[in-house]
Amino acid sequence: MPRRKKNSPELLKKPEKRNEKIPNRLLGMKDLVGSEYRCFDLVVSKALEFSKLYSFTPIKTPVLETFDLYKKSTRKSTDKEFYFVEGEKSEKVVLRPEMTQGVVRAYLENNLGESGLPARLFSLGPVFRREKLQTGRYREFTQANLEIIGEKKPLAEAILITVAHNFFEELQIKTQVQINSIGTAECRREYGNKLLAYYKERGRRSKLCHYCKKNLGKNCLSLLDCKEENCVKLREEAPQIADYLTSESREQFAKTLEFLDELNINYNFNPYLVRGLNYYNDTVFEFWPINDDGVLLGKMALGGGGRYDYLVEAMGGPATPAIGLALGIERTMARLKDKHLLINSQEEDIVFIAQLGDQAKLKALQLFEDLRRSGFNVRQSFASDSLKIQLEEAVALRAKTALILGKKEIMDGTILMRDIDSGAQETVVYKKIKERLSRKDKLIEKRINNRKEGGLYGGL
Ligand code: HAM
Repeated sequence: MPRRKKNSPELLKKPEKRNEKIPNRLLGMKDLVGSEYRCFDLVVSKALEFSKLYSFTPIKTPVLETFDLYKKSTRKSTDKEFYFVEGEKSEKVVLRPEMTQGVVRAYLENNLGESGLPARLFSLGPVFRREKLQTGRYREFTQANLEIIGEKKPLAEAILITVAHNFFEELQIKTQVQINSIGTAECRREYGNKLLAYYKERGRRSKLCHYCKKNLGKNCLSLLDCKEENCVKLREEAPQIADYLTSESREQFAKTLEFLDELNINYNFNPYLVRGLNYYNDTVFEFWPINDDGVLLGKMALGGGGRYDYLVEAMGGPATPAIGLALGIERTMARLKDKHLLINSQEEDIVFIAQLGDQAKLKALQLFEDLRRSGFNVRQSFASDSLKIQLEEAVALRAKTALILGKKEIMDGTILMRDIDSGAQETVVYKKIKERLSRKDKLIEKRINNRKEGGLYGGL
């Protein structure tokens, strides 16, 4: 079977020559292997770490939910973006296209507001959208999702934006927050009418792209989001929603921006940011990548969210304000790769155990298990008999230290400790090896503690 070329936008096309006997993965879906999986693990672990740091309660909701859950609250005209699954009797069941509604359902079903508000909930996992394919847009992707339910104060906006901002910063990804207020449903209705009138005036309609023409009567605000050159030009003169906000919405937004200023968060008031989801009101925001000079690198959001003060009530609960955001794990991973951030460099303290001879192999296996249980980041290549090949493997893994065991060391009760970078070797008494390793890298304890808490989906 022909291999897909590395780095090609492989999600967008089928392999040229298919071997019909081998099943192919679905378009828009991705396999993660080796370093890509490690990259995924790194990003997911960071999201988990941050959720704990900022006191979010973990919650796992099912991947399958009823279609009814999304029918009202998701984008209009997106039915075709759902993956439908056969449910019980006539029940329409779908693969979740996002987490928010599932989390709100679980919040209501499990009375999570009982123990006091606000409830801060963190969830993580795959979501599915049958979207038009393009670079950075998958049909199965992973979201790390943070919701604050039961908080109206703009401090909630500031907290969420700070968490996401710091998450990207720790991964050395520079972002700029695009932020806007879309007000209440009433503000939007009034504004929508004005916008419609604007586009219908002076032959502007005929200059719009095919999609905007189609959306004009249905969802006029979505025209602001269009990336086609003509549509971008036309919107420059269009009325802005800021002029239609109620005094409460205006105050909420002003306070939010004030907090962001105080927190030194790089943001841009973007009057064209409307976000496509029906449940939002007031504050909406997205994280767009920028380069070291602060220049935007496209509009592919790495994360996004907003306020949804009416969703809990619309789903049958009491009137409860809420706000949330989702981080796109795959898009974050793509930014890490762009920057050639070597994932293996995160594992600087790898200890590689090499052996020579059968007797040493057994002893090395015992040492491996002992060090592993003590929390050291150990690796080995027991399948290999050649010391040269084993040490090459240690270099490839970016191990810092190799422990080498041969017949002589076993007889002497010692082990050879080699610094991979310098090649310097010393003989260490076998029983003192843990102590010696800990001294070599004082940071090791901190790392072990982190690892015990983290890991793939570790805390959930
Ligand atoms: P969203 O903007 O649809 O918001 O998705 C959040 C993030 O998921 C995006 O910023 C992006 O990083 C990632 N994402 C979205 N679509 C794709 C795709 N097709 N392929 C790869 N990554 C994608 C929501 O889902 C809201 N539920 C967020 C939220 C939570 N609002 C309130 N609470």
